[in-house]
Amino acid sequence: MSNIEVVGGERLKGELKIQGSKNASLPLLAATILNKGTTVLKNCPKILDVFHMIKILEELGCTCEWEENTLYVDSSYIDTTTVSWDFVSKMRSSILFMGALLGRSHEVTIAYPGGCLIGERKIDFHLDAMKKMNVNVVLNDNEIKCQTCCIIGTDIILPKSSVGATQNIILAAVLSKGTTRIFNAAKEPEVIELCNFLMKAGARIHGMDTPMIEVEGVSRLHDVEYTLSPDRIVAGTYMTAVAAAYGNVILLDTPYRQLKSLIDVLRKTGCNIEAADDYLKISNDQRPRPIEQIRTQPYPDFPTDMQSQMMSVLSLAHGDSTIIEEIFESRFQNATELNKMGARIDINEMEKKAVIHGVEKLNGAEVKALDLRSGAALVVAGLAAEGKTVIRSAEVIRRGYENIGRDLSTLGAKIKNF
Ligand code: EPU
Repeated sequence: MSNIEVVGGERLKGELKIQGSKNASLPLLAATILNKGTTVLKNCPKILDVFHMIKILEELGCTCEWEENTLYVDSSYIDTTTVSWDFVSKMRSSILFMGALLGRSHEVTIAYPGGCLIGERKIDFHLDAMKKMNVNVVLNDNEIKCQTCCIIGTDIILPKSSVGATQNIILAAVLSKGTTRIFNAAKEPEVIELCNFLMKAGARIHGMDTPMIEVEGVSRLHDVEYTLSPDRIVAGTYMTAVAAAYGNVILLDTPYRQLKSLIDVLRKTGCNIEAADDYLKISNDQRPRPIEQIRTQPYPDFPTDMQSQMMSVLSLAHGDSTIIEEIFESRFQNATELNKMGARIDINEMEKKAVIHGVEKLNGAEVKALDLRSGAALVVAGLAAEGKTVIRSAEVIRRGYENIGRDLSTLGAKIKNF
Protein backbone atom coordinates (compact mmCIF):
# COMPACT_ATOMS: atom_id res chain seq x y z
CA MET A 1 0.00 0.00 0.00
CA SER A 2 1.54 3.34 -0.90
CA ASN A 3 1.05 6.65 0.82
CA ILE A 4 1.69 10.28 -0.05
CA GLU A 5 2.99 12.94 2.30
CA VAL A 6 2.40 16.60 1.51
CA VAL A 7 3.71 19.53 3.50
CA GLY A 8 1.41 22.40 2.65
CA GLY A 9 2.03 26.09 2.20
CA GLU A 10 4.35 26.16 -0.83
CA ARG A 11 3.30 28.46 -3.66
CA LEU A 12 3.31 26.51 -6.93
CA LYS A 13 5.38 27.83 -9.79
CA GLY A 14 6.93 26.60 -13.02
CA GLU A 15 5.98 24.66 -16.08
CA LEU A 16 4.55 21.17 -16.53
CA LYS A 17 3.58 19.02 -19.48
CA ILE A 18 0.26 17.21 -19.16
CA GLN A 19 0.25 13.41 -19.66
CA GLY A 20 -1.91 11.54 -22.17
CA SER A 21 -5.57 11.00 -21.34
CA LYS A 22 -6.70 8.03 -19.23
CA ASN A 23 -10.31 8.01 -20.34
CA ALA A 24 -9.34 8.33 -24.01
CA SER A 25 -6.69 5.61 -23.84
CA LEU A 26 -8.85 2.90 -22.20
CA PRO A 27 -11.48 2.58 -24.99
CA LEU A 28 -8.73 2.79 -27.62
CA LEU A 29 -6.94 -0.11 -25.97
CA ALA A 30 -10.12 -2.19 -26.18
CA ALA A 31 -10.58 -1.03 -29.78
CA THR A 32 -7.15 -2.33 -30.82
CA ILE A 33 -8.55 -5.87 -31.02
CA LEU A 34 -10.91 -4.83 -33.83
CA ASN A 35 -7.82 -4.67 -36.07
CA LYS A 36 -6.19 -8.01 -36.87
CA GLY A 37 -2.81 -6.33 -37.03
CA THR A 38 -0.72 -3.73 -35.25
CA THR A 39 -1.82 -0.52 -33.56
CA VAL A 40 0.56 2.16 -32.36
CA LEU A 41 -0.65 4.46 -29.59
CA LYS A 42 1.54 7.48 -28.93
CA ASN A 43 1.37 9.63 -25.79
CA CYS A 44 -0.20 6.70 -23.93
CA PRO A 45 -0.14 7.40 -20.16
CA LYS A 46 1.76 4.97 -17.94
CA ILE A 47 -0.96 4.58 -15.33
CA LEU A 48 -2.40 1.56 -13.50
CA ASP A 49 -5.62 1.48 -15.54
CA VAL A 50 -3.63 1.30 -18.79
CA PHE A 51 -1.38 -1.45 -17.35
CA HIS A 52 -4.52 -3.29 -16.43
CA MET A 53 -6.05 -3.03 -19.91
CA ILE A 54 -2.74 -4.30 -21.28
CA LYS A 55 -3.00 -7.36 -18.99
CA ILE A 56 -6.43 -8.10 -20.46
CA LEU A 57 -5.09 -7.73 -24.01
CA GLU A 58 -2.29 -10.14 -23.13
CA GLU A 59 -4.74 -12.56 -21.53
CA LEU A 60 -6.66 -12.53 -24.84
CA GLY A 61 -3.46 -13.36 -26.74
CA CYS A 62 -2.27 -9.95 -27.98
CA THR A 63 1.29 -8.74 -27.47
CA CYS A 64 1.96 -5.26 -26.11
CA GLU A 65 5.29 -3.42 -26.01
CA TRP A 66 6.25 -0.02 -24.68
CA GLU A 67 8.82 2.35 -26.09
CA GLU A 68 8.71 5.31 -23.68
CA ASN A 69 5.09 6.52 -23.95
CA THR A 70 4.40 4.75 -27.23
CA LEU A 71 2.53 1.46 -26.97
CA TYR A 72 2.60 -1.14 -29.74
CA VAL A 73 -0.29 -3.61 -29.67
CA ASP A 74 -0.20 -6.63 -31.96
CA SER A 75 -3.68 -8.14 -32.04
CA SER A 76 -3.19 -10.32 -35.13
CA TYR A 77 -4.21 -13.40 -33.15
CA ILE A 78 -6.38 -13.87 -30.11
CA ASP A 79 -6.76 -17.18 -28.26
CA THR A 80 -9.79 -16.58 -26.07
CA THR A 81 -12.91 -14.43 -25.84
CA THR A 82 -13.17 -14.69 -22.06
CA VAL A 83 -12.36 -11.77 -19.82
CA SER A 84 -12.06 -13.15 -16.30
CA TRP A 85 -13.22 -11.77 -12.97
CA ASP A 86 -9.64 -11.06 -11.88
CA PHE A 87 -9.54 -8.29 -14.45
CA VAL A 88 -13.12 -7.06 -14.55
CA SER A 89 -13.26 -6.67 -10.78
CA LYS A 90 -10.28 -4.30 -10.81
CA MET A 91 -11.47 -1.93 -13.48
CA ARG A 92 -14.93 -1.20 -14.80
CA SER A 93 -13.64 -0.05 -18.19
CA SER A 94 -12.89 -3.70 -18.96
CA ILE A 95 -16.60 -3.88 -19.88
CA LEU A 96 -15.54 -2.17 -23.16
CA PHE A 97 -14.10 -5.52 -24.21
CA MET A 98 -17.70 -6.66 -24.54
CA GLY A 99 -18.37 -4.54 -27.64
CA ALA A 100 -14.84 -5.02 -28.99
CA LEU A 101 -14.81 -8.84 -28.67
CA LEU A 102 -18.32 -9.11 -30.10
CA GLY A 103 -17.15 -6.99 -33.03
CA ARG A 104 -14.10 -9.13 -33.62
CA SER A 105 -15.18 -12.67 -32.65
CA HIS A 106 -18.97 -12.51 -32.30
CA GLU A 107 -18.77 -13.82 -28.74
CA VAL A 108 -17.59 -12.80 -25.33
CA THR A 109 -17.77 -14.15 -21.79
CA ILE A 110 -17.14 -11.49 -19.21
CA ALA A 111 -17.56 -11.33 -15.45
CA TYR A 112 -19.89 -8.70 -13.96
CA PRO A 113 -18.08 -5.49 -13.12
CA GLY A 114 -17.93 -5.28 -9.32
CA GLY A 115 -19.39 -2.53 -7.15
CA CYS A 116 -17.72 0.82 -7.17
CA LEU A 117 -17.05 3.38 -4.48
CA ILE A 118 -18.39 6.31 -6.49
CA GLY A 119 -21.76 4.70 -7.18
CA GLU A 120 -23.67 1.67 -8.38
CA ARG A 121 -22.56 2.06 -12.03
CA LYS A 122 -24.99 -0.26 -13.76
CA ILE A 123 -24.40 -1.75 -17.23
CA ASP A 124 -28.05 -2.15 -18.27
CA PHE A 125 -27.68 0.34 -21.18
CA HIS A 126 -24.75 -1.71 -22.54
CA LEU A 127 -26.64 -5.01 -22.31
CA ASP A 128 -29.91 -3.68 -23.75
CA ALA A 129 -28.01 -2.19 -26.70
CA MET A 130 -26.18 -5.46 -27.45
CA LYS A 131 -29.52 -7.33 -27.40
CA LYS A 132 -30.94 -4.83 -29.91
CA MET A 133 -27.92 -5.45 -32.15
CA ASN A 134 -28.81 -9.15 -32.54
CA VAL A 135 -26.64 -10.39 -29.69
CA ASN A 136 -27.89 -13.19 -27.47
CA VAL A 137 -27.10 -12.15 -23.90
CA VAL A 138 -27.25 -14.73 -21.09
CA LEU A 139 -26.77 -13.57 -17.54
CA ASN A 140 -25.34 -16.36 -15.37
CA ASP A 141 -24.53 -16.12 -11.67
CA ASN A 142 -20.99 -14.86 -12.13
CA GLU A 143 -20.63 -13.91 -15.75
CA ILE A 144 -22.33 -12.58 -18.84
CA LYS A 145 -22.21 -14.69 -22.01
CA CYS A 146 -22.85 -12.92 -25.30
CA GLN A 147 -22.93 -14.54 -28.69
CA THR A 148 -24.17 -13.63 -32.15
CA CYS A 149 -23.99 -14.91 -35.71
CA CYS A 150 -23.59 -11.30 -36.85
CA ILE A 151 -24.09 -7.94 -35.28
CA ILE A 152 -26.84 -6.07 -37.09
CA GLY A 153 -26.95 -2.29 -37.12
CA THR A 154 -30.07 -0.73 -35.61
CA ASP A 155 -31.38 2.39 -33.86
CA ILE A 156 -30.52 2.62 -30.17
CA ILE A 157 -31.92 5.26 -27.87
CA LEU A 158 -29.92 5.62 -24.68
CA PRO A 159 -32.19 6.39 -21.69
CA LYS A 160 -29.50 8.81 -20.48
CA SER A 161 -26.20 9.96 -21.89
CA SER A 162 -23.56 7.34 -21.01
CA VAL A 163 -19.92 7.55 -22.06
CA GLY A 164 -19.22 3.84 -21.62
CA ALA A 165 -22.44 2.61 -23.26
CA THR A 166 -21.90 4.92 -26.25
CA GLN A 167 -18.33 3.63 -26.62
CA ASN A 168 -19.36 -0.02 -26.24
CA ILE A 169 -22.06 0.34 -28.92
CA ILE A 170 -19.60 2.03 -31.29
CA LEU A 171 -17.07 -0.78 -30.70
CA ALA A 172 -19.72 -3.42 -31.46
CA ALA A 173 -21.05 -1.54 -34.49
CA VAL A 174 -17.83 -0.80 -36.38
CA LEU A 175 -17.59 -4.26 -38.03
CA SER A 176 -21.35 -4.95 -38.07
CA LYS A 177 -23.78 -5.45 -40.92
CA GLY A 178 -25.72 -2.26 -41.68
CA THR A 179 -25.87 1.05 -39.86
CA THR A 180 -26.24 1.74 -36.15
CA ARG A 181 -27.65 5.05 -34.96
CA ILE A 182 -27.11 5.99 -31.32
CA PHE A 183 -29.57 8.59 -30.07
CA ASN A 184 -28.78 10.59 -26.92
CA ALA A 185 -25.14 9.58 -27.45
CA ALA A 186 -22.52 10.94 -25.07
CA LYS A 187 -20.55 13.90 -26.43
CA GLU A 188 -17.55 13.64 -24.10
CA PRO A 189 -14.16 14.28 -25.79
CA GLU A 190 -13.25 10.64 -25.07
CA VAL A 191 -16.15 9.45 -27.28
CA ILE A 192 -14.96 11.74 -30.09
CA GLU A 193 -11.43 10.47 -29.63
CA LEU A 194 -12.56 6.84 -29.98
CA CYS A 195 -14.41 7.79 -33.20
CA ASN A 196 -11.37 9.64 -34.58
CA PHE A 197 -9.14 6.68 -33.82
CA LEU A 198 -11.52 4.16 -35.41
CA MET A 199 -12.02 6.36 -38.48
CA LYS A 200 -8.26 6.57 -38.90
CA ALA A 201 -8.27 2.75 -38.88
CA GLY A 202 -10.96 2.61 -41.59
CA ALA A 203 -14.27 2.81 -39.70
CA ARG A 204 -17.18 4.90 -41.04
CA ILE A 205 -18.66 7.10 -38.34
CA HIS A 206 -20.70 10.30 -38.64
CA GLY A 207 -22.12 12.78 -36.17
CA MET A 208 -19.72 12.29 -33.31
CA ASP A 209 -19.96 15.32 -31.00
CA THR A 210 -23.70 15.46 -31.79
CA PRO A 211 -26.42 13.60 -29.84
CA MET A 212 -26.86 11.18 -32.78
CA ILE A 213 -23.84 9.12 -33.79
CA GLU A 214 -24.12 6.96 -36.87
CA VAL A 215 -21.80 3.98 -37.45
CA GLU A 216 -21.83 2.30 -40.85
CA GLY A 217 -20.38 -1.19 -40.55
CA VAL A 218 -17.24 -1.99 -42.58
CA SER A 219 -15.68 -5.39 -43.25
CA ARG A 220 -12.28 -4.74 -41.65
CA LEU A 221 -10.03 -2.18 -40.03
CA HIS A 222 -6.36 -1.64 -40.85
CA ASP A 223 -3.17 -0.85 -38.96
CA VAL A 224 -3.08 2.61 -37.47
CA GLU A 225 -0.78 4.97 -35.59
CA TYR A 226 -2.57 7.44 -33.31
CA THR A 227 -1.49 10.12 -30.82
CA LEU A 228 -3.65 10.37 -27.71
CA SER A 229 -4.83 13.75 -26.44
CA PRO A 230 -3.62 15.19 -23.16
CA ASP A 231 -5.71 14.43 -20.08
CA ARG A 232 -8.26 17.15 -19.35
CA ILE A 233 -8.86 15.96 -15.78
CA VAL A 234 -5.16 15.81 -14.88
CA ALA A 235 -4.78 19.36 -16.24
CA GLY A 236 -7.89 20.38 -14.30
CA THR A 237 -6.53 18.84 -11.10
CA TYR A 238 -3.32 20.88 -11.32
CA MET A 239 -5.38 24.01 -12.02
CA THR A 240 -7.32 23.42 -8.79
CA ALA A 241 -3.97 22.92 -7.02
CA VAL A 242 -3.02 26.49 -7.99
CA ALA A 243 -6.44 27.77 -6.97
CA ALA A 244 -6.10 26.19 -3.51
CA ALA A 245 -2.37 26.58 -2.79
CA TYR A 246 -1.72 29.74 -4.85
CA GLY A 247 1.01 30.25 -7.41
CA ASN A 248 1.73 30.90 -11.05
CA VAL A 249 1.94 27.89 -13.31
CA ILE A 250 2.11 27.10 -17.03
CA LEU A 251 0.56 23.81 -18.11
CA LEU A 252 1.81 22.70 -21.51
CA ASP A 253 -0.41 20.57 -23.75
CA THR A 254 -3.58 21.45 -21.86
CA PRO A 255 -6.78 20.77 -23.83
CA TYR A 256 -8.31 24.06 -22.68
CA ARG A 257 -11.29 23.90 -25.03
CA GLN A 258 -12.40 20.77 -23.16
CA LEU A 259 -12.08 22.61 -19.84
CA LYS A 260 -14.36 25.58 -20.46
CA SER A 261 -16.78 24.85 -17.60
CA LEU A 262 -13.91 24.43 -15.12
CA ILE A 263 -12.13 27.55 -16.39
CA ASP A 264 -15.36 29.57 -15.94
CA VAL A 265 -15.73 28.36 -12.35
CA LEU A 266 -12.06 28.91 -11.45
CA ARG A 267 -12.18 32.43 -12.88
CA LYS A 268 -15.18 33.10 -10.65
CA THR A 269 -13.15 31.96 -7.62
CA GLY A 270 -10.56 34.61 -8.55
CA CYS A 271 -7.95 32.73 -10.63
CA ASN A 272 -6.35 34.43 -13.62
CA ILE A 273 -6.32 32.07 -16.56
CA GLU A 274 -4.86 32.62 -20.00
CA ALA A 275 -5.34 29.80 -22.48
CA ALA A 276 -3.80 29.25 -25.89
CA ASP A 277 -3.48 26.25 -28.18
CA ASP A 278 -0.33 24.83 -26.65
CA TYR A 279 -0.35 26.14 -23.07
CA LEU A 280 -2.52 27.36 -20.22
CA LYS A 281 -1.30 29.88 -17.67
CA ILE A 282 -3.00 29.99 -14.30
CA SER A 283 -2.22 32.18 -11.34
CA ASN A 284 -3.87 32.88 -8.02
CA ASP A 285 -2.84 34.70 -4.86
CA GLN A 286 -6.05 35.07 -2.94
CA ARG A 287 -8.50 33.05 -0.91
CA PRO A 288 -11.06 31.66 -3.35
CA ARG A 289 -14.40 33.37 -3.72
CA PRO A 290 -17.32 31.00 -3.05
CA ILE A 291 -19.46 29.63 -5.89
CA GLU A 292 -23.20 29.72 -5.42
CA GLN A 293 -23.78 26.43 -7.21
CA ILE A 294 -21.86 23.90 -9.29
CA ARG A 295 -23.91 21.11 -10.84
CA THR A 296 -22.08 18.16 -12.39
CA GLN A 297 -23.57 17.15 -15.74
CA PRO A 298 -22.45 15.43 -18.95
CA TYR A 299 -19.98 17.31 -21.17
CA PRO A 300 -19.69 20.21 -21.86
CA ASP A 301 -21.07 21.04 -18.39
CA PHE A 302 -19.06 20.71 -15.19
CA PRO A 303 -17.41 17.23 -15.08
CA THR A 304 -18.08 14.89 -12.18
CA ASP A 305 -14.38 13.93 -12.39
CA MET A 306 -13.44 17.46 -11.21
CA GLN A 307 -16.04 17.65 -8.45
CA SER A 308 -13.87 16.37 -5.57
CA GLN A 309 -10.90 18.60 -6.46
CA MET A 310 -13.22 21.62 -6.69
CA MET A 311 -14.63 20.74 -3.28
CA SER A 312 -11.10 21.02 -1.86
CA VAL A 313 -10.75 24.50 -3.38
CA LEU A 314 -14.14 25.68 -2.14
CA SER A 315 -13.49 24.38 1.37
CA LEU A 316 -11.09 27.36 1.62
CA ALA A 317 -13.44 29.97 0.13
CA HIS A 318 -14.57 32.96 2.14
CA GLY A 319 -18.24 32.01 2.16
CA ASP A 320 -20.58 29.12 1.42
CA SER A 321 -20.68 27.17 -1.85
CA THR A 322 -22.96 24.39 -3.08
CA ILE A 323 -22.21 21.41 -5.29
CA ILE A 324 -24.93 19.18 -6.77
CA GLU A 325 -23.63 15.79 -7.98
CA GLU A 326 -25.87 14.50 -10.76
CA ILE A 327 -23.77 11.66 -12.20
CA PHE A 328 -22.53 9.34 -9.43
CA GLU A 329 -24.53 9.01 -6.21
CA SER A 330 -21.59 8.25 -3.87
CA ARG A 331 -19.11 10.85 -4.99
CA PHE A 332 -19.35 13.01 -1.87
CA GLN A 333 -17.59 10.55 0.44
CA ASN A 334 -14.45 12.64 0.37
CA ALA A 335 -16.17 15.30 2.48
CA THR A 336 -15.54 13.13 5.57
CA GLU A 337 -11.80 13.12 4.81
CA LEU A 338 -11.69 16.87 4.12
CA ASN A 339 -13.57 17.53 7.37
CA LYS A 340 -10.73 15.72 9.18
CA MET A 341 -8.51 18.51 7.82
CA GLY A 342 -10.76 21.19 9.27
CA ALA A 343 -13.13 21.69 6.33
CA ARG A 344 -16.83 22.24 7.11
CA ILE A 345 -18.85 20.35 4.56
CA ASP A 346 -22.42 19.13 5.02
CA ILE A 347 -23.81 16.45 2.74
CA ASN A 348 -27.47 15.98 1.95
CA GLU A 349 -27.60 12.66 0.09
CA MET A 350 -31.30 12.88 -0.73
CA GLU A 351 -30.74 16.18 -2.51
CA LYS A 352 -27.36 15.04 -3.97
CA LYS A 353 -26.04 18.23 -2.43
CA ALA A 354 -22.88 19.30 -0.62
CA VAL A 355 -22.84 22.61 1.21
CA ILE A 356 -19.28 23.77 1.71
CA HIS A 357 -18.84 26.36 4.44
CA GLY A 358 -15.49 27.90 3.55
CA VAL A 359 -12.88 27.98 6.34
CA GLU A 360 -9.84 30.24 6.64
CA LYS A 361 -7.38 27.36 6.72
CA LEU A 362 -7.11 23.60 6.48
CA ASN A 363 -4.80 21.65 8.78
CA GLY A 364 -2.60 18.74 7.80
CA ALA A 365 -4.06 15.41 8.91
CA GLU A 366 -4.00 11.70 8.19
CA VAL A 367 -6.62 10.93 5.56
CA LYS A 368 -7.48 8.12 3.17
CA ALA A 369 -7.78 8.17 -0.62
CA LEU A 370 -11.15 6.54 -1.28
CA ASP A 371 -11.01 6.61 -5.07
CA LEU A 372 -8.89 8.09 -7.81
CA ARG A 373 -10.34 11.61 -7.95
CA SER A 374 -10.99 12.02 -4.24
CA GLY A 375 -7.38 10.93 -3.64
CA ALA A 376 -6.20 13.65 -6.01
CA ALA A 377 -8.51 16.09 -4.22
CA LEU A 378 -6.83 15.28 -0.90
CA VAL A 379 -3.46 16.07 -2.49
CA VAL A 380 -4.89 19.43 -3.58
CA ALA A 381 -6.17 20.07 -0.04
CA GLY A 382 -2.83 18.97 1.44
CA LEU A 383 -0.92 21.47 -0.72
CA ALA A 384 -3.00 24.28 0.75
CA ALA A 385 -3.13 23.01 4.35
CA GLU A 386 -0.97 24.12 7.24
CA GLY A 387 1.48 21.36 8.16
CA LYS A 388 1.79 17.76 7.08
CA THR A 389 -0.95 15.70 5.40
CA VAL A 390 -0.53 11.95 5.03
CA ILE A 391 -2.75 10.35 2.40
CA ARG A 392 -3.11 6.62 2.99
CA SER A 393 -4.04 4.13 0.24
CA ALA A 394 -2.73 6.62 -2.30
CA GLU A 395 -1.97 3.83 -4.80
CA VAL A 396 -5.44 4.42 -6.22
CA ILE A 397 -4.30 7.82 -7.53
CA ARG A 398 -1.90 6.00 -9.87
CA ARG A 399 -4.92 4.61 -11.72
CA GLY A 400 -5.15 7.96 -13.48
CA TYR A 401 -2.05 10.06 -12.71
CA GLU A 402 1.36 8.86 -13.91
CA ASN A 403 3.09 10.41 -10.91
CA ILE A 404 1.25 13.17 -9.09
CA GLY A 405 4.14 13.56 -6.63
CA ARG A 406 6.73 14.04 -9.39
CA ASP A 407 4.50 16.51 -11.25
CA LEU A 408 3.74 18.66 -8.21
CA SER A 409 7.38 18.55 -7.01
CA THR A 410 8.31 20.01 -10.41
CA LEU A 411 6.03 22.91 -9.47
CA GLY A 412 7.77 23.35 -6.10
CA ALA A 413 5.41 21.37 -3.86
CA LYS A 414 6.80 19.47 -0.86
CA ILE A 415 5.36 16.08 -1.66
CA LYS A 416 6.69 12.54 -1.57
CA ASN A 417 5.50 8.98 -2.01
CA PHE A 418 6.35 6.47 0.73
N1 EPU B 1 -25.53 4.43 -16.29
C1 EPU B 1 -26.58 3.54 -16.12
N2 EPU B 1 -26.57 2.37 -16.84
C2 EPU B 1 -25.56 2.07 -17.71
C3 EPU B 1 -24.49 2.98 -17.89
C4 EPU B 1 -24.50 4.17 -17.16
O1 EPU B 1 -27.51 3.79 -15.34
O2 EPU B 1 -25.62 1.00 -18.32
C5 EPU B 1 -25.52 5.69 -15.53
C6 EPU B 1 -24.36 5.76 -14.52
O3 EPU B 1 -24.67 5.13 -13.30
C7 EPU B 1 -24.17 7.26 -14.37
C8 EPU B 1 -24.50 7.79 -15.78
O4 EPU B 1 -25.25 6.77 -16.42
O5 EPU B 1 -25.09 7.78 -13.47
C9 EPU B 1 -23.30 8.15 -16.62
O6 EPU B 1 -22.33 7.12 -16.56
P1 EPU B 1 -21.35 6.83 -17.77
O7 EPU B 1 -21.75 5.54 -18.37
O8 EPU B 1 -21.28 8.03 -18.63
O9 EPU B 1 -19.96 6.65 -17.02
P2 EPU B 1 -18.80 5.65 -17.38
O10 EPU B 1 -18.70 5.47 -18.83
O11 EPU B 1 -18.92 4.45 -16.51
C10 EPU B 1 -16.93 7.46 -17.70
C11 EPU B 1 -15.58 7.75 -17.12
C12 EPU B 1 -15.74 8.23 -15.70
C13 EPU B 1 -16.58 9.51 -15.74
C14 EPU B 1 -17.95 9.22 -16.39
C15 EPU B 1 -18.81 10.44 -16.55
C16 EPU B 1 -14.09 6.26 -18.23
C17 EPU B 1 -13.20 5.08 -18.17
N3 EPU B 1 -14.78 6.55 -17.13
O12 EPU B 1 -17.53 6.45 -16.87
O13 EPU B 1 -14.43 8.55 -15.23
O14 EPU B 1 -16.79 9.96 -14.42
O15 EPU B 1 -17.72 8.65 -17.70
O16 EPU B 1 -18.16 11.41 -17.30
O17 EPU B 1 -14.15 6.93 -19.25
C18 EPU B 1 -12.73 8.79 -13.63
O18 EPU B 1 -11.95 8.99 -14.56
O19 EPU B 1 -12.41 8.97 -12.43
C19 EPU B 1 -14.08 8.32 -13.92
C20 EPU B 1 -14.87 7.77 -13.00
